[in-house]
Amino acid sequence: MTSTRLVQYLRPFVAPMLGGLLLAALASAATVGYAGAVKLLVGSVQDKSLSELGVALATALGLNVLKNSSQYFSGYTLMSVGQQVVRKIRGDLFARIQYFSLPTFDKWRAGDILSRFSNDMNILVEGVSALPLFVTAALTLVAGLVFMVYLNWQLTLVTMAVAPLVVWAVYTFSGLLRRATTVALNRIADLNSMLQESLESARIIKAFTREPYEIARFEDRNAANFGASMKLAQISLTQTPVIDVAVMVGVLILAGFALFQVIAGTLTPTNFFMFFTVTTTVANPISQLSNYIGSLNKAYAAATRVFELMDLPIEVDEPDKHELRDVRGAVEFNDVHFSYDGVRDVLKGITARVAPGEIVALVGPSGSGKTTLVNLVPRFYEPTAGAVVVDGEDVSGVRLSSLRHAIAIVPQDPQLFSDTIEENIRYGRLDATPAEIEAAAKLANAHEFISRMPAGYATLVGSRGLRLSGGERQRIAIARAILRDPRILILDEATSSLDAHSEALIGEALDHLLVGRTTFIIAHRLSTIRRATMILVLDEGRIVEHGTHDDLIRLSGLYASLYERQMLEATPTPAT
Ligand SMILES: Nc1ncnc2c1ncn2[C@@H]1O[C@H](COP(=O)(O)OP(=O)(O)O)[C@@H](O)[C@H]1O
Ligand SMILES: [Mg+2]
Repeated sequence: MTSTRLVQYLRPFVAPMLGGLLLAALASAATVGYAGAVKLLVGSVQDKSLSELGVALATALGLNVLKNSSQYFSGYTLMSVGQQVVRKIRGDLFARIQYFSLPTFDKWRAGDILSRFSNDMNILVEGVSALPLFVTAALTLVAGLVFMVYLNWQLTLVTMAVAPLVVWAVYTFSGLLRRATTVALNRIADLNSMLQESLESARIIKAFTREPYEIARFEDRNAANFGASMKLAQISLTQTPVIDVAVMVGVLILAGFALFQVIAGTLTPTNFFMFFTVTTTVANPISQLSNYIGSLNKAYAAATRVFELMDLPIEVDEPDKHELRDVRGAVEFNDVHFSYDGVRDVLKGITARVAPGEIVALVGPSGSGKTTLVNLVPRFYEPTAGAVVVDGEDVSGVRLSSLRHAIAIVPQDPQLFSDTIEENIRYGRLDATPAEIEAAAKLANAHEFISRMPAGYATLVGSRGLRLSGGERQRIAIARAILRDPRILILDEATSSLDAHSEALIGEALDHLLVGRTTFIIAHRLSTIRRATMILVLDEGRIVEHGTHDDLIRLSGLYASLYERQMLEATPTPAT
């Protein structure tokens, strides 16, 4: 429940909230106290007394100062509580997002997550900002009602005749507002997702000259968002007048009835004015309240969406699980099955045994499940059946951090952070010295091109490293992996975007890198595969052949035919 979650976030702030409420109560009392000043004022006019007038004016001024200063401090206190809650929720949300599991990232659009993180949180902030005003208005209302009952309970009762109508209106509009807000926030998330995806795919859009297509697609969603926003505005804008009319009707009933009492002589004109002043101080907060309740309802809808994001599955690293220590790097796949969608099996019973330090090449047509298989080793995904075992332990039973500490991955399209080359390499081991970073870069054959850059290791690589070529990015990723010094190394087409010359140089670096480590190499080039002590040939999620290059050529099976069809190139051809 959203409300219980919000209460949990508010719990640490009970003391400042009570202080803020107390100050708000003081402000409300001062506001209602105006009626007393009015009484003094009327009295001074009746008595034609200047001194009484002075007292009346001083009282009014004093009450005004009291009201404004307590309102300021109450507002400041409550606002600080609200902002601290928002900060805590944001921090928690960011932390949750870091631990989202990969299946979660596969399912959720980045733009949607971004939108909830910024847009929905801003709506929550707006609701929080309305909170102090809401509290002041509510307390003023209560204080005013108490005072009204004290002055004349019969009149109060008459005025209250419209209360059920007001309550009904607030209740109905709350539901409408929450639903409309949810729809509007969804539509904005659509817009954000589209922008985010078009930024990521800028090159593709240009290459296919699909700018007009994207613009037209955006226009559709933009229109949908406009519709949702106007629907929301319509509901918000209707609420206040409806409630205002109801309140006005109440005041009119009161005026008629009071006049009746004055004529009958049961109500003095002074009391009539006082009662009327209090009624207007009560009518005011009612219309304000309907506004603030609107903001709070929008905030509630936004908070529900934020908590929905916060409740997505994360990778739990249970502290009671066993720590993998001094990993040797023995990896076994025991009849591993895997499916991304629960319908189609991508891996259909993989069984293999890899000794520590062994170099395994995974070969097979694209889509055969090579990347999926190696992604199970760091437990990016969990097998649907069977087990992945490292050093004799099922990886699902060990602490995730200890498992991943032992592994380094160089993916096909390495992602760099928008930072310097040095910091990007250091990501492999945060306490590495500049000398160690340079040594790793040398081993990865990256030192030379880095030195040629005007700013050397301090060169900024741009967003996602896009200022570097694919081959340069890969060499930085390899340097990062070298620095990590892992027991298990996964190279997923890590050298595929290197040209023949760099590939040969990287080959030497790999020879250093691979010594004593269990390595999985997914590659197409024979020069890389030749380093393997074992080749596993995958096809449609099954291991169809295994052995050395020579064994497999002799077998004249899939490997031999891939080799013949030049999918495993004997001589590397220049790539990007
Ligand atoms: N994140 C994913 N969600 C759903 N299906 C996926 C995902 N990644 C890969 N697949 C599917 O799984 C199959 C195997 O993919 P993959 O392991 O990447 O093959 P390979 O690396 O051998 O080219 C493919 O059919 C692919 O469409
Ligand atoms: Mg792949």
